[in-house]
Amino acid sequence: MELKGIEATLRSLLESSTETSIIAVDLDQRITLWNKGAERLLGYSAEEVLGRDVSFIYLEEELRSGRISEMRDRVLRGETFRGEVGQLRKDGKVLRIYLTVTSLKDEDGRIVGFLGIGQDITERAELQEKILHAKRELQAMFDAIPDVIFMRSPDFKIIRANNAAFSYFGGRKILWTPCYGLRGFSSPCPDCPGNEAVSAKKAEPFEFQDRKGKIFRVYQYPVLRADGSLYAVISLMQDVTEAKLLQEKQRELELRLIQESKLSAVGMLASGIAHNINNPLTSIMGRAQLLLMDHPELEEDLSPIIHQAKQIEAIVHNLTYKTRQEQTKKKQRLDLNHLLKQELEFLKADLDFKHKVEKEYDFDESLPPIWGVYSDFSQSLLNIIRNALDAMYKSERKKLTVRTYHDEENIYIEVGDTGCGIPEEVLPHIFEPFFTTKPLAGEAHGDEPTGTGLGLSTCKQLLGGYRAEISVKSKLGEGTTFTVKIPIGPNQYEES
Ligand SMILES: Nc1ncnc2c1ncn2[C@@H]1O[C@H](COP(=O)(O)OP(=O)(O)OP(=O)(O)O)[C@@H](O)[C@H]1O
Ligand SMILES: [Mg+2]
Repeated sequence: MELKGIEATLRSLLESSTETSIIAVDLDQRITLWNKGAERLLGYSAEEVLGRDVSFIYLEEELRSGRISEMRDRVLRGETFRGEVGQLRKDGKVLRIYLTVTSLKDEDGRIVGFLGIGQDITERAELQEKILHAKRELQAMFDAIPDVIFMRSPDFKIIRANNAAFSYFGGRKILWTPCYGLRGFSSPCPDCPGNEAVSAKKAEPFEFQDRKGKIFRVYQYPVLRADGSLYAVISLMQDVTEAKLLQEKQRELELRLIQESKLSAVGMLASGIAHNINNPLTSIMGRAQLLLMDHPELEEDLSPIIHQAKQIEAIVHNLTYKTRQEQTKKKQRLDLNHLLKQELEFLKADLDFKHKVEKEYDFDESLPPIWGVYSDFSQSLLNIIRNALDAMYKSERKKLTVRTYHDEENIYIEVGDTGCGIPEEVLPHIFEPFFTTKPLAGEAHGDEPTGTGLGLSTCKQLLGGYRAEISVKSKLGEGTTFTVKIPIGPNQYEES
């Protein structure tokens, strides 16, 4: 009686449990028990299913694959089956069920059926799938970033890293090694702001240069736990080599502009001085000439005075002419022979040029004039001539050749040197802005020529407006010849 009471209580407990599905079947698979939980989970009422073959709750593919019959066989052998199976709800939705199956025995211990207890883990499985997907997505995102990123623990061990980090540092073996080891240190890097600053979000990015000369800026961001303590640190290494280089070039360019504006101020000053020299000079010359007329016997003493004064007059004239020309941006009729002669004359201020460079000039005296802005040509041609002189800096024989000639369509200006020549691999780059093989000003040794690499690109830009072409012939160790070809178009003489 007592036992019967307990059995009845247990049975009603099983039947009424709504969280867990409990299904019993006999040896022929016919359903003998279908509790409230099974009703709720699978959508069938007990009346609908009692006595039916249980197979309809399983998935076709799991029945076919023999998984369900294997489960039964195991239970028949006395084992308990525990595992995930699919079950079909009345409305067709597939549920993921964590199923425990044991055998049911009669009083003599003979197996008379099976008891299955199922827990719905569909949501959990779906959540797990979502988490997995999100994780994969995050990793893909992480890997798509070209900057080196890794996550480290507060004690500096690398926990995670992206592909860029693996390929930069040489593979997955960096995981769980200390991050300072990547830079060859045996304790935290001296420039690392440290955990405290990172936690407080006050870590300033720092920069370092690797062995290959690449410059990285390192940013560190904290990952904090709910209680505010440091869980991990994300390190991002941004390659700033190019940006740095550009910054340096820009600085150099600024310096050059400052230098040029200083020069132009000096030029203005000089032309002012030149102008003021003119009056006393005319007076000196006039008096010397008068004196000579009255005292021809003093010719020996007076001639050199007059001669030198004439020299000064010529210099002053050239100076005022050039400054005036450089400052006008208006197009005018230009005699390129005259312009070249002026530039070459001014270069004589450089004593090396005056005394150490052999010069061969050949000007085509019937060169047609060009319609253009004076400084476009003076700047461009001076750069080509300066490049030629720079190239001969170390040459034993320094010979500069400047030649002009023309045919029916074009004017040609040729500048040749006996300098170092241009290596084949350098040649395609010489017109690129900022391309230079010379040290920057301030980094040169002695009087070694310096450069910013803007000369030829500016030439190309300035002369491009006149449809000019610049060609180069060079032989390593022997010298280089630049030829500028300028078309004498019919519109050359019209103001555009
Ligand atoms: N006559 C030449 N002989 C040998 N190399 C030359 C010659 N002319 C130009 N080059 C090469 O071309 C490069 C670019 O010349 P470019 O005039 O543009 O710049 P730079 O002379 O180096 O600097 P900048 O003109 O701005 O002072 C030079 O650095 C040099 O390597
Ligand atoms: Mg140059």
